Amino acid sequence: MKIGTIKETRPGERRVALTPSVVRDLTGKGFQVLVESGAGLDAHFQDDEYREAGASVTSKKEVFEQADVIVKINPPSDEDLPLFRKGQIFVGLLFPYNNPELTKTLAEKGVTAFAMELIPRISRAQNMDVLSSQSNLAGYKAVIIGADALEKIFPLMMTAAGTIRPARVLIYGVGVAGLQAIATAKRLGAIVEATDIRPETKEEAESLGAKFIQVEDADLKDVSEGGYAKEASEEFLRKQKEAVDKSLFQADLVITTALVMGRKAPRLITEEQIKQMKHGAVIVDMAVEQGGNVELSRPDEIVTKHGVTIIGKTNLPSLLAVNASELYAKNMYNFLTFLMPEGEPKIDLDDEIIDGTLTVYQGQVRKS
Ligand code: NAI
Repeated sequence: MKIGTIKETRPGERRVALTPSVVRDLTGKGFQVLVESGAGLDAHFQDDEYREAGASVTSKKEVFEQADVIVKINPPSDEDLPLFRKGQIFVGLLFPYNNPELTKTLAEKGVTAFAMELIPRISRAQNMDVLSSQSNLAGYKAVIIGADALEKIFPLMMTAAGTIRPARVLIYGVGVAGLQAIATAKRLGAIVEATDIRPETKEEAESLGAKFIQVEDADLKDVSEGGYAKEASEEFLRKQKEAVDKSLFQADLVITTALVMGRKAPRLITEEQIKQMKHGAVIVDMAVEQGGNVELSRPDEIVTKHGVTIIGKTNLPSLLAVNASELYAKNMYNFLTFLMPEGEPKIDLDDEIIDGTLTVYQGQVRKS
């Protein structure tokens, strides 16, 4: 089987789906690998490194003509779609619920497509979970960006000129990104508080040294499904505001990470609340691409209002293109060797991982 990857064309994207080290592992397993020339350059992987790892470095056209499996990060672009051939397999992010036209076209072309963001949250699939591998890095980067924008230091510092009190960081959403944000802010010396709708996150937040803000008297039955939070009730959101407001108004840096699978991100901080925050505080809204947790955040803009700076940077993992590509490529290796244990694709619809991710198959869209 021939596995191919191309240069990502999403604006601002620096990552690549396969790294030279993973190419070496795949060729070691007997796969042939094709890489578009320059595919890894933005993540600092040179064509020669891919060649040394055993890949054929060639044009995008050749990759599409020869590869049986196309591995990518972002969904196929309009420019790539005509290049797909009948029987080809696509592996990458697809977001079928937001992209019905794309999946329909792939089905019409006879492509078999796997959506990597739909990997089920079971332990067997953990090493294929691209959302986790990328969110973890994004959580780190959000704190670094926030720390850079803050005109204050994080740690307690006792100097001859006086004592500087540690910065206060508040994290909304203690999932993969939130946990890494807690760990990073703690390492930098901040006082960290966190909140989440899923009660089990209390222990996880505390184990990393954060104080957990519990939403009192909230009905926390049925708040999650398959590892993901469900949409919070109006009542929960109101009680959450009451419980968190005191910490929000004292915070120097706020990181919001709250997502609800398949829905718009919950609105957790309103302009009214921002008005009451400290002058000079910074918010990094990691959910900005999914509609935002913060009323004033805008994708790829820095908004300053009421003395608060609100950063809405999209695609944070791309800012850490080296590590993000390394981890994404490892996820791909684990998925591809699972899909093709003997070198050929084995599509077993009774398998939870296949059933969960297989989005287009035999001319049909399975997830819409
Ligand atoms: P996510 O990115 O979908 O959401 C981020 C966080 O926001 C979640 O913790 C969620 O509970 C929280 N949230 C949603 N609505 C909220 C609200 N209204 N207020 C406050 N918080 C809200 O979640 P993520 O990070 O992708 O993963 C969630 C959990 O899934 C992880 O903590 C982990 O326990 C589990 N998981 C399991 C895996 C496996 O077993 N293979 C792999 C990855 C995650």
